[in-house]
Order: sequence, then C-alpha cells, then structure tokens
Amino acid sequence: MSVTIKTEDEINLMRKSGHMLYQVHEELKKAVRPGISTKELDQIGEDTIRSLGGIPNCKNYEGFPAAVCISVNDEVVHGIPSEKRILQEGDIVTFDTGLIYKGYHSDAARTWGVGTISEDAQKLIDATRQSFFEGIKKAKAGNRLHDISRAIDDYITPLGYGIVRELTGHGIGTHLHEDPIVPNYKQLRRGIKLQKGMTICVEPMITMGKRQVGWLDDDWTVVTIDGSLAAHYENTIAITDGEPEILTML
Ligand code: MF3
Ligand code: CO
Repeated sequence: MSVTIKTEDEINLMRKSGHMLYQVHEELKKAVRPGISTKELDQIGEDTIRSLGGIPNCKNYEGFPAAVCISVNDEVVHGIPSEKRILQEGDIVTFDTGLIYKGYHSDAARTWGVGTISEDAQKLIDATRQSFFEGIKKAKAGNRLHDISRAIDDYITPLGYGIVRELTGHGIGTHLHEDPIVPNYKQLRRGIKLQKGMTICVEPMITMGKRQVGWLDDDWTVVTIDGSLAAHYENTIAITDGEPEILTML
C-alpha cells in the first residue's frame, strides 16, 4: 500500500470522525476514578462511540476483543479491558481508541491520572503530550516525515525518558493503519515528503525507565520490561500547506 492523498470531502469526513472521537475521550476522562474496572470503562467508550453513530475500529481488529485499549501503569498499549482490573488511586491509565464514520477512521490516545498521582507520573504524562506537539510543529507540506520523528526524540531524550521503538504512528483513512509508518525516534533517512491531504496518526509512547518493551501472554498487552510507568498521546492529523489540523480535537 502506498501513501494516499485525501480530497477535501474525505478530510471533512475524517474531521467529523475525529470530532466524534474527541467526545468519546471526554466521556472516558470523566469516568476515571478509583474503583472502576477497565471493563466498565470500555463499555462507556463503546456505548459513546455507538450513540454518536460510529463503529469502534479496535473491536475485532486482528481479534482484539474490546472497543478501547486500556493500559494501566507499566502497560504501554493494547491492554485488554477486564472486570478484574480495578483502577486504584495513584495509577495512570491510557485509553487508545478509534472509530469509523462513513468509512473513515479516527484514532487517538490519552493517558490520565487516577485521583492523586505522583509528581513524576504527572511529568511523564505532560512530557508525552508535549512531545506530540513538538513533533507536529514539523508536520507541514514540504517537510520530511522524519522531521516529526526527530523533533519528538530531541524533546524526549534530554528528559531521560525512553521512547518505545517497537510501535509507531501510521497513516490513516479508509483503513485504521495505512502507510506511512511514523516513528517516534530519530531516523537515518529523511522519510517521504509531506504533502497537503496526507492524514497520519502521531503517537509517542514514552517510558519513565528503559525504552524496551515486551508482550504479555495474552499476545496483546505491551509492558515496559523494567516495570516503569509508560504514557501515550495520540491524535489523527491532516497535513495542510500551513499548520497541521488536529482532527481528533475540537
Ligand atoms: N488504536 C491503536 C493505534 O494507535 C490500534 C489499536 S489495535 C487494537 O494504532 F487492536 F489493539 F485495537
Ligand atoms: Co494509532
């Protein structure tokens, strides 16, 4: 598959899809509290997606069993919601979810604190979010794709955090995962030239300790190998001739 350029009509549908997804994340954020299970949170996410007229794009994706990937503490991404996983005061929780509207996908992730969290955990969450914004400063027509990767790395590495390499951002449109791959760390090559109408997901996954990750036996849940906390921040964006448009924010 190659990188596709979306028409104005397609971007309009992706914007609608993204704005719906923003509302889903707002509902998920409101529901975070000590004592709630990740299964209940997934249900809130799925119900919100469907009530808005969307279709969850994680559910059944390569067999993933839920609408929202919910990852707690040292889980980086693709945590499977469970009634047995109860959020505790001081945890951090990541929601990674997306939806399809009229055939067009949106995808976004957020990490939140549960009740009061440590200052170090909050700093990790804030830096992960900021690294996304540093990255997309370079997301302009005429720049190279890996300018985004470099900007994320240049922001995160001096802070002493780890950047996960095993997973990356990606193109998005009529499929959840399209070309190109969008790495979050410095590349040797410059990558493709960015053009107006490209739609991509930029999604840094950042660890407080070592950058290496492993997979649990469920073959989905990605965890840090050293048990350190991890945060994730993702939006779907559209490349324009000027500033990128963040489709999954209002
Ligand atoms: N939303 C994720 C992404 O950022 C993909 C989830 S795949 C799933 O690409 F199967 F785990 F849902
Ligand atoms: Co994604």
